[in-house]
Amino acid sequence: GRCVVAVDGPSGSGKSTVSRRLAAGIGARYLDTGAMYRAITWAVLRSGVDLTDTASVAKVAGEVDLHIGTHPQGYAVSVDGAGVDAEIRGPEVTGAVSAVAAVPAVRELLVARQREMIANAGRMVVEGRDIGSVVAPDADLKVFLTASEAARAARRSAEDAADVAATAADLARRDRLDSTRKVNPLAQAPDAVVLDTTELGIDEVVARLRDLLTE
Ligand code: C5P
Repeated sequence: GRCVVAVDGPSGSGKSTVSRRLAAGIGARYLDTGAMYRAITWAVLRSGVDLTDTASVAKVAGEVDLHIGTHPQGYAVSVDGAGVDAEIRGPEVTGAVSAVAAVPAVRELLVARQREMIANAGRMVVEGRDIGSVVAPDADLKVFLTASEAARAARRSAEDAADVAATAADLARRDRLDSTRKVNPLAQAPDAVVLDTTELGIDEVVARLRDLLTE
């Protein structure tokens, strides 16, 4: 039957790994909402508009043909028909995404798309920053993942093959922007299960979530 799991938390908290493994394990679709904000950001950078010109940023976002797959292993993101999976993980997009994600019109557009995709899926694990609080407040299970700053920076720098200190600084900057923006900031839903992945480890977290779902 229908089942929506919302997974929120800061960058490097283990959201993606946990969400994909959980989705694969329970036979659900998987939606990476961060990849959607990243794809819009890639299109905005390509267009050359000034990031502080929010009207132009919103206009680009509205004109882009964005597609995202929902298979937990090997989903793909495309913009105007071209695959951008590698591009959206690069430093240019990572450096600009929080500014683009703070534009209210961009959020309105993507939140509507996300709600539509969730409504059309039977079972889906959805990860982001505002899923339990805004996108899917009626989710069957809401999870908020945390981890120490050191663990988050170590994970992200391993994934990106980047310097730990630079990664730590970038995570801190992004988390500050994501949690202080006016519209839909990174927030813990009051009814979310909070799990610290520093202490638990990814496999234990996935096992715990599966237990919570079958309870
Ligand atoms: O999860 P990921 O690190 O790929 O997300 C990239 C950025 O997209 C975040 O730093 C945040 O600015 C934005 N984002 C958001 N709301 C979401 C998911 C991501 O604002 N639901």
